[in-house]
Amino acid sequence: MRYIPLSSSFYRSNRARFMDAISQGGLAVFNSNDIYPISADSKMPFQQHRDIFYLSGIDQEESVLLLFPDAKNSNHREVLFVKKTNNHIAVWEGAKLSQKEATNISGIQTVLWTDDFNSLFNQLTKEAKSIYFNTNEHYRANIETQTREDRFIEWAKKKYPTHQHEKSNFILQRLRSLKHKEEICQIQQAVNITEKGFRRVLDFVKPGVWEYEIEAEFVYEFIKNRSKGFAYSPIIASGQNSNVLHYTQNNSKCQSGDLILIDVGAEYGNYASDMTRTIPVSGKFTPRQRRVYDAVRKIGEESMKLLVPGTLIKEYNQEVGKIMSSALIDLGLLDKKDLNIKDKKNPAYKKYYMHGTSHHLGLDTHDYGLIEEPIEPNMVLSVEPGIYIPEESFGIRIEEDIVVQEKGGPINLTKNIPKDPDEIEFLMSSR
Ligand code: GLY
Ligand code: MN
Ligand code: MN
Repeated sequence: MRYIPLSSSFYRSNRARFMDAISQGGLAVFNSNDIYPISADSKMPFQQHRDIFYLSGIDQEESVLLLFPDAKNSNHREVLFVKKTNNHIAVWEGAKLSQKEATNISGIQTVLWTDDFNSLFNQLTKEAKSIYFNTNEHYRANIETQTREDRFIEWAKKKYPTHQHEKSNFILQRLRSLKHKEEICQIQQAVNITEKGFRRVLDFVKPGVWEYEIEAEFVYEFIKNRSKGFAYSPIIASGQNSNVLHYTQNNSKCQSGDLILIDVGAEYGNYASDMTRTIPVSGKFTPRQRRVYDAVRKIGEESMKLLVPGTLIKEYNQEVGKIMSSALIDLGLLDKKDLNIKDKKNPAYKKYYMHGTSHHLGLDTHDYGLIEEPIEPNMVLSVEPGIYIPEESFGIRIEEDIVVQEKGGPINLTKNIPKDPDEIEFLMSSR
């Protein structure tokens, strides 16, 4: 791998916290992701399942982690299974992890080959009361594909029908939503790489460039800085495209007078950054564009201040809605009487601002977090207000990544990424 890994003590403490949370006699299993096929013999690049990564640091396919805190034999409290390597694999793909290397990364002393899983698991189920399965219960998830984890659950439920079944996901959602110092450093590193890409793009954009050429500038800077690439599909949306929230085609020519909404983040060591900046193709905002830009920027800054411990995301969204409504009136986009329509599900501001303001950020771009519960210090969240005006052929979003603090307002991890419109114009003028 090209990133500098975190130390095994981080993974050891994650496992300890997870094992503290499971009930007596509980046996938990975590699987890697599959390598997904394209067609013929082509495959997609491997992406490790973030849960087994969080608990072990192992970034290799066909790995399995077993946690059984009440195992009679202390060697069986934490067992890692990795793909058995051989000469053929070594020649064609490069060597896979040895058992010793897997111990060094994860801090797990008992490392076996994946082929040994069924027999040890069978033995340990005799001591176990319940099996903790790892289902995907992210609030936005709606997955059709059967994962390796799903196959394991199907198999184990059939083979061990009298064990109780428990969910690991609830515990992981809580643990993963609270970031540790090491994780904040990884996210900051991802943000710093994104910043390099954005500064490169400020130097590159001029009328006539294509959106995909801008994408390529980011790719260059990301890979050069030890990132695998984008943390999520990049949105490089000029002109009217900026009003399409999930525009990822990135195949239009950028015209003078238009804005480009750039929602792009590098990954680093499997941690995501998530940034949006909106810049003028010509290097200069029109007075109207700048007015809307300043409004979005101000809404972002005011929203950030609301992210203090104890805040509920639902109430926060309502507060941001109020700030947004008053900005839209100032911009002449809404009328005061529009606010009299009291439709809670569909407030008037949604005509120009139709998405949420914040999500958790971490190993996944839309990371784990129990969003019905109050926010806590060390949660990392995006702050991403936008105003989208199809009738004026532009949309503006500005997105920052912040860390909630006990006191004194959040830390802004993206504060060095140019956002001030004067600075953006200045940097673009020196092209
Ligand atoms: N680009 C994904 C997001 O901002 O949430
Ligand atoms: Mn985001
Ligand atoms: Mn984003």
